[in-house]
Amino acid sequence: MVTYIDAATAPLKNTGAIRLYGADDFEGMRRACQLTARCLDALVPMVKPGVTTAAIDNFVFEFGADHGAIPATLNYRGYKYSVCTSINHVVCHGMPDDKPLRDGDIVNIDVTFLLDGWHGDSSRMYPVGNIKRAAERLMEVTHECLMRGIAAVRPGARTGAIGEAIQTYAEAERCSVVRDFCGHGVGRLFHDSPNILHYGKANEGPELREGMIFTIEPMINLGKPHVKVLSDGWTAVTRDRSLTAQYEHTVGVTATGCEIFTLSPAGLDRPGLG
Ligand code: MF3
Ligand code: CO
Ligand code: CO
Repeated sequence: MVTYIDAATAPLKNTGAIRLYGADDFEGMRRACQLTARCLDALVPMVKPGVTTAAIDNFVFEFGADHGAIPATLNYRGYKYSVCTSINHVVCHGMPDDKPLRDGDIVNIDVTFLLDGWHGDSSRMYPVGNIKRAAERLMEVTHECLMRGIAAVRPGARTGAIGEAIQTYAEAERCSVVRDFCGHGVGRLFHDSPNILHYGKANEGPELREGMIFTIEPMINLGKPHVKVLSDGWTAVTRDRSLTAQYEHTVGVTATGCEIFTLSPAGLDRPGLG
Protein backbone atom coordinates (compact mmCIF):
# COMPACT_ATOMS: atom_id res chain seq x y z
CA MET A 1 0.00 0.00 0.00
CA VAL A 2 1.29 3.46 -0.88
CA THR A 3 1.04 6.23 1.68
CA TYR A 4 1.63 9.93 1.24
CA ILE A 5 3.01 12.11 4.00
CA ASP A 6 3.31 15.86 4.62
CA ALA A 7 7.00 16.67 4.10
CA ALA A 8 6.85 19.21 6.94
CA THR A 9 6.12 16.56 9.58
CA ALA A 10 7.70 13.43 8.09
CA PRO A 11 10.80 11.88 9.69
CA LEU A 12 14.05 12.53 7.80
CA LYS A 13 14.49 8.97 6.56
CA ASN A 14 13.08 6.88 3.74
CA THR A 15 10.12 5.05 5.29
CA GLY A 16 8.57 4.13 1.95
CA ALA A 17 5.94 6.86 2.30
CA ILE A 18 5.91 9.50 -0.45
CA ARG A 19 6.59 13.02 0.80
CA LEU A 20 4.37 15.87 -0.42
CA TYR A 21 6.12 19.23 -0.42
CA GLY A 22 4.65 22.74 -0.21
CA ALA A 23 5.33 26.08 -1.88
CA ASP A 24 8.27 27.06 0.36
CA ASP A 25 9.84 23.66 -0.24
CA PHE A 26 9.52 24.14 -4.01
CA GLU A 27 11.36 27.46 -3.63
CA GLY A 28 14.20 25.71 -1.75
CA MET A 29 14.41 23.09 -4.50
CA ARG A 30 14.45 25.76 -7.21
CA ARG A 31 17.56 27.29 -5.61
CA ALA A 32 19.46 24.01 -5.13
CA CYS A 33 18.53 22.74 -8.59
CA GLN A 34 19.42 25.98 -10.35
CA LEU A 35 22.85 25.90 -8.71
CA THR A 36 23.33 22.37 -10.07
CA ALA A 37 22.17 23.53 -13.53
CA ARG A 38 24.58 26.48 -13.49
CA CYS A 39 27.45 24.15 -12.59
CA LEU A 40 26.54 21.81 -15.47
CA ASP A 41 26.44 24.92 -17.72
CA ALA A 42 29.89 26.02 -16.53
CA LEU A 43 31.29 22.58 -17.43
CA VAL A 44 30.31 22.88 -21.11
CA PRO A 45 33.44 24.82 -22.25
CA MET A 46 35.66 22.73 -19.94
CA VAL A 47 34.82 19.31 -21.39
CA LYS A 48 37.43 18.92 -24.13
CA PRO A 49 40.05 16.34 -25.17
CA GLY A 50 42.88 16.28 -22.59
CA VAL A 51 40.91 17.36 -19.53
CA THR A 52 40.81 14.77 -16.75
CA THR A 53 37.68 13.74 -14.90
CA ALA A 54 39.62 14.47 -11.70
CA ALA A 55 39.83 18.12 -12.85
CA ILE A 56 36.05 18.07 -13.42
CA ASP A 57 35.58 16.62 -9.92
CA ASN A 58 37.71 19.39 -8.46
CA PHE A 59 35.82 22.05 -10.40
CA VAL A 60 32.45 20.78 -9.12
CA PHE A 61 33.68 20.74 -5.51
CA GLU A 62 35.00 24.31 -5.80
CA PHE A 63 31.85 25.53 -7.58
CA GLY A 64 29.77 24.20 -4.70
CA ALA A 65 32.07 25.69 -2.06
CA ASP A 66 31.91 29.09 -3.78
CA HIS A 67 28.10 29.00 -3.53
CA GLY A 68 27.60 27.50 -0.06
CA ALA A 69 26.75 24.02 -1.33
CA ILE A 70 28.16 20.53 -0.68
CA PRO A 71 28.21 17.78 -3.32
CA ALA A 72 25.78 15.19 -1.94
CA THR A 73 27.78 12.30 -3.42
CA LEU A 74 30.87 13.11 -1.32
CA ASN A 75 31.15 10.33 1.32
CA TYR A 76 27.70 9.05 0.28
CA ARG A 77 27.75 5.30 1.09
CA GLY A 78 31.53 5.42 0.81
CA TYR A 79 31.64 7.23 -2.54
CA LYS A 80 34.64 9.54 -2.50
CA TYR A 81 33.92 12.12 -5.22
CA SER A 82 31.93 15.29 -5.87
CA VAL A 83 30.55 14.05 -9.18
CA CYS A 84 29.98 10.94 -11.28
CA THR A 85 31.71 10.91 -14.68
CA SER A 86 30.52 8.03 -16.88
CA ILE A 87 32.36 7.63 -20.19
CA ASN A 88 31.20 5.71 -23.32
CA HIS A 89 30.11 2.21 -22.14
CA VAL A 90 29.92 3.31 -18.48
CA VAL A 91 26.22 3.45 -17.61
CA CYS A 92 26.50 5.42 -14.34
CA HIS A 93 28.56 5.97 -11.16
CA GLY A 94 31.83 6.35 -13.09
CA MET A 95 34.51 7.60 -10.68
CA PRO A 96 36.73 10.56 -11.60
CA ASP A 97 40.40 9.71 -12.20
CA ASP A 98 43.57 11.08 -13.78
CA LYS A 99 42.92 9.75 -17.29
CA PRO A 100 42.36 12.52 -19.84
CA LEU A 101 39.16 12.56 -21.91
CA ARG A 102 39.80 11.60 -25.53
CA ASP A 103 38.47 12.97 -28.80
CA GLY A 104 35.27 11.07 -29.66
CA ASP A 105 34.31 10.17 -26.08
CA ILE A 106 30.86 10.92 -24.70
CA VAL A 107 30.66 11.53 -20.96
CA ASN A 108 27.75 11.86 -18.56
CA ILE A 109 28.41 14.31 -15.75
CA ASP A 110 26.05 13.89 -12.79
CA VAL A 111 25.99 16.59 -10.10
CA THR A 112 23.92 16.74 -6.91
CA PHE A 113 24.33 19.85 -4.77
CA LEU A 114 23.00 20.02 -1.24
CA LEU A 115 22.09 23.68 -0.62
CA ASP A 116 20.34 24.83 2.57
CA GLY A 117 19.04 21.30 3.15
CA TRP A 118 17.74 20.75 -0.42
CA HIS A 119 19.17 18.34 -3.04
CA GLY A 120 19.41 19.36 -6.71
CA ASP A 121 20.21 16.29 -8.85
CA SER A 122 20.85 16.52 -12.59
CA SER A 123 23.08 15.10 -15.31
CA ARG A 124 23.81 15.73 -18.97
CA MET A 125 25.85 14.12 -21.75
CA TYR A 126 28.87 16.04 -23.04
CA PRO A 127 30.58 15.29 -26.36
CA VAL A 128 34.40 15.36 -26.23
CA GLY A 129 35.69 16.89 -29.47
CA ASN A 130 34.22 15.29 -32.57
CA ILE A 131 31.96 12.33 -31.89
CA LYS A 132 30.51 9.65 -34.16
CA ARG A 133 27.03 10.00 -35.60
CA ALA A 134 25.90 6.89 -33.64
CA ALA A 135 26.92 8.55 -30.37
CA GLU A 136 25.12 11.76 -31.30
CA ARG A 137 21.99 9.80 -32.19
CA LEU A 138 22.08 7.91 -28.88
CA MET A 139 22.35 11.20 -26.98
CA GLU A 140 19.42 12.66 -28.96
CA VAL A 141 17.26 9.58 -28.30
CA THR A 142 18.13 9.59 -24.59
CA HIS A 143 17.34 13.28 -24.12
CA GLU A 144 14.04 12.76 -25.94
CA CYS A 145 13.32 9.83 -23.58
CA LEU A 146 13.83 12.12 -20.60
CA MET A 147 11.55 14.82 -22.04
CA ARG A 148 8.83 12.31 -22.97
CA GLY A 149 8.99 10.91 -19.43
CA ILE A 150 8.64 14.43 -18.03
CA ALA A 151 5.68 15.13 -20.34
CA ALA A 152 3.83 12.18 -18.74
CA VAL A 153 3.98 13.77 -15.25
CA ARG A 154 0.69 15.13 -13.92
CA PRO A 155 -1.46 14.51 -10.85
CA GLY A 156 -3.59 11.40 -11.27
CA ALA A 157 -1.18 9.62 -13.63
CA ARG A 158 0.87 6.75 -12.18
CA THR A 159 4.67 6.57 -12.08
CA GLY A 160 4.35 3.80 -14.70
CA ALA A 161 3.21 6.40 -17.26
CA ILE A 162 6.72 7.88 -17.12
CA GLY A 163 8.33 4.48 -17.67
CA GLU A 164 5.98 3.57 -20.50
CA ALA A 165 6.66 6.84 -22.35
CA ILE A 166 10.42 6.30 -22.08
CA GLN A 167 10.48 2.60 -22.96
CA THR A 168 8.12 2.98 -25.93
CA TYR A 169 10.26 5.68 -27.52
CA ALA A 170 13.64 4.07 -26.75
CA GLU A 171 12.64 0.69 -28.20
CA ALA A 172 11.02 2.28 -31.27
CA GLU A 173 14.47 3.81 -31.87
CA ARG A 174 16.08 0.33 -31.55
CA CYS A 175 17.70 1.21 -28.24
CA SER A 176 17.27 -0.51 -24.84
CA VAL A 177 16.37 0.75 -21.36
CA VAL A 178 18.62 -0.10 -18.38
CA ARG A 179 16.51 -1.79 -15.66
CA ASP A 180 19.05 -1.89 -12.82
CA PHE A 181 18.90 1.82 -11.89
CA CYS A 182 15.94 4.16 -11.57
CA GLY A 183 14.88 7.71 -10.77
CA HIS A 184 13.98 8.49 -7.17
CA GLY A 185 12.22 10.81 -4.81
CA VAL A 186 14.50 13.72 -3.87
CA GLY A 187 14.26 16.84 -1.73
CA ARG A 188 15.25 16.78 1.93
CA LEU A 189 16.75 13.33 1.21
CA PHE A 190 19.08 12.46 -1.72
CA HIS A 191 17.37 9.15 -2.48
CA ASP A 192 13.78 8.80 -1.29
CA SER A 193 10.54 7.06 -2.26
CA PRO A 194 9.14 6.54 -4.82
CA ASN A 195 11.33 4.67 -7.32
CA ILE A 196 10.78 6.02 -10.83
CA LEU A 197 11.25 3.14 -13.30
CA HIS A 198 12.22 4.01 -16.86
CA TYR A 199 10.20 1.11 -18.29
CA GLY A 200 6.80 -0.43 -17.60
CA LYS A 201 3.11 0.28 -18.07
CA ALA A 202 1.02 3.40 -17.43
CA ASN A 203 -1.28 1.55 -14.99
CA GLU A 204 1.60 0.52 -12.71
CA GLY A 205 3.16 2.24 -9.69
CA PRO A 206 1.86 4.81 -7.21
CA GLU A 207 -0.36 7.68 -8.31
CA LEU A 208 1.36 11.03 -8.81
CA ARG A 209 0.16 13.87 -6.58
CA GLU A 210 0.80 17.59 -6.49
CA GLY A 211 3.81 18.29 -4.24
CA MET A 212 5.81 15.15 -5.10
CA ILE A 213 9.44 15.79 -6.11
CA PHE A 214 11.56 13.19 -7.91
CA THR A 215 14.18 12.62 -10.57
CA ILE A 216 13.78 11.08 -14.00
CA GLU A 217 17.13 9.80 -15.28
CA PRO A 218 16.86 7.22 -18.08
CA MET A 219 19.96 5.23 -19.04
CA ILE A 220 19.62 4.11 -22.67
CA ASN A 221 21.92 1.64 -24.48
CA LEU A 222 22.68 1.13 -28.17
CA GLY A 223 22.99 -2.62 -27.44
CA LYS A 224 21.39 -4.90 -24.87
CA PRO A 225 20.00 -3.50 -21.58
CA HIS A 226 22.17 -5.59 -19.24
CA VAL A 227 24.75 -3.99 -16.96
CA LYS A 228 27.40 -5.20 -14.55
CA VAL A 229 29.13 -3.40 -11.70
CA LEU A 230 32.94 -3.54 -11.77
CA SER A 231 35.02 -4.83 -8.83
CA ASP A 232 35.46 -1.24 -7.55
CA GLY A 233 31.86 -1.60 -6.34
CA TRP A 234 30.59 1.48 -8.20
CA THR A 235 31.32 1.64 -11.94
CA ALA A 236 28.34 0.21 -13.85
CA VAL A 237 29.05 -0.77 -17.46
CA THR A 238 27.03 -2.32 -20.28
CA ARG A 239 27.66 -6.09 -20.33
CA ASP A 240 28.06 -6.03 -24.11
CA ARG A 241 30.26 -2.90 -23.88
CA SER A 242 27.79 -1.01 -26.10
CA LEU A 243 27.55 2.76 -25.92
CA THR A 244 25.18 4.17 -23.28
CA ALA A 245 23.80 7.62 -22.43
CA GLN A 246 21.85 9.31 -19.62
CA TYR A 247 20.23 12.65 -18.88
CA GLU A 248 18.61 13.56 -15.55
CA HIS A 249 16.26 16.27 -14.32
CA THR A 250 14.69 16.90 -10.92
CA VAL A 251 10.98 17.75 -11.26
CA GLY A 252 8.12 18.77 -8.94
CA VAL A 253 4.51 17.79 -9.58
CA THR A 254 2.22 20.84 -9.94
CA ALA A 255 -1.60 21.07 -10.18
CA THR A 256 -1.48 20.70 -13.98
CA GLY A 257 1.80 18.92 -14.79
CA CYS A 258 5.28 19.52 -13.47
CA GLU A 259 8.02 22.06 -13.01
CA ILE A 260 11.54 21.12 -14.18
CA PHE A 261 13.75 22.50 -11.42
CA THR A 262 17.07 21.70 -13.12
CA LEU A 263 16.49 23.30 -16.54
CA SER A 264 19.58 25.13 -17.79
CA PRO A 265 19.20 28.91 -17.43
CA ALA A 266 21.50 29.22 -20.49
CA GLY A 267 19.62 26.73 -22.68
CA LEU A 268 22.49 24.22 -22.45
CA ASP A 269 20.42 21.17 -21.50
CA ARG A 270 21.80 19.19 -24.47
CA PRO A 271 25.46 20.19 -24.88
CA GLY A 272 26.67 19.55 -28.42
CA LEU A 273 23.22 18.79 -29.81
CA GLY A 274 22.07 22.38 -30.48
N1 MF3 B 1 23.50 11.40 -8.70
C1 MF3 B 1 23.21 9.98 -8.79
C2 MF3 B 1 21.75 9.88 -9.02
O1 MF3 B 1 21.29 10.39 -9.98
C3 MF3 B 1 23.61 9.23 -7.57
C4 MF3 B 1 25.06 9.07 -7.41
S1 MF3 B 1 25.35 8.26 -5.92
C5 MF3 B 1 27.02 8.08 -5.92
O2 MF3 B 1 20.98 9.37 -8.24
F1 MF3 B 1 27.31 7.66 -4.75
F2 MF3 B 1 27.38 7.29 -6.90
F3 MF3 B 1 27.58 9.25 -6.14
CO1 CO C 1 19.34 10.88 -9.34
CO1 CO D 1 22.17 12.24 -10.45
